[in-house]
Amino acid sequence: MKVRKAVIPAAGLGTRFLPATKALAKEMFPIIDKPTIQYIVEEARKSGIEDILVVTGKGKRPIEDHFDSVPELEQNLTAKGKTGLLKLVQQTTDINLYFIRQSHPRGLGDAVLMAKDFVGNEPFVVMLGDDIMEDKVPLTKQLIDRYEETHASTLAVMKVPHDEVDKYGIIDPVTETKPGLFDVNQFVEKPDVDKAPSDLAIIGRYLLTPEIFDMLETQKPGAGNEIQLTDAIDRLNQIQRVFAHEFKGERFDVGYKFGYLKTSIQFGLKHPEVSAELKDYIKELAKKLN
Ligand code: G1P
Repeated sequence: MKVRKAVIPAAGLGTRFLPATKALAKEMFPIIDKPTIQYIVEEARKSGIEDILVVTGKGKRPIEDHFDSVPELEQNLTAKGKTGLLKLVQQTTDINLYFIRQSHPRGLGDAVLMAKDFVGNEPFVVMLGDDIMEDKVPLTKQLIDRYEETHASTLAVMKVPHDEVDKYGIIDPVTETKPGLFDVNQFVEKPDVDKAPSDLAIIGRYLLTPEIFDMLETQKPGAGNEIQLTDAIDRLNQIQRVFAHEFKGERFDVGYKFGYLKTSIQFGLKHPEVSAELKDYIKELAKKLN
């Protein structure tokens, strides 16, 4: 069955960015000139996804507004002949987005469970907004290609520094069945550094079969007393195979302050409007710091 649907959980409170997130959804923070969630939506679109459900919460209305059309703005840009800007504005509305509110966030697993009716009986992807991925083939498309070979759930994983494994879901790989594709013995959410089965961390892209909802409906709270998607995936793996696909591209974690700053700089260095100035600025700054 074709993979057509994606779920983007965006109900988090964004406490790592307080006070900025008091009134502004972290998904709307721009990297140069584009909100972080737009990078995720663009990856979905490039991967052939047709419908996206965004799981939102309090204060997330600007996300809906961002992906809605703004006729007055479009008329204004047309009248002024600003066709480049008009195109940028119109590009934000050419995918089907649906929204559902999670009134009592109880963890990532709980957020994904909100998508049960939207997903129905189809395979689907979960895309976390804190991770922007870059590769020749979009990571979501890589997972879809794997699914087309295996018809099984497949999570994206990546090697992380050993002292950071307690921030992630970690896999216990058994064998590399095909290059970059692992059979998995166990999925563990945020293990202690000395107990982690490997340094292969789940990054924010999951291709899941609909049976995950049976697991989520009965999932008990785990790490941080939250309903963890990783725990439900571990149980799914007992009844049908769940693979891990190793991502070899670049991952930009915008979910914490320094990661957000680094991503802004790296994307700025590639942005035609600011890259030359930014390069000069960094060189000047480096001289001063030496
Ligand atoms: C979530 C998942 C975790 C995963 C991580 C990737 O954790 O629960 O398994 O490794 O995203 O970014 P969070 O970052 O929400 O604590």
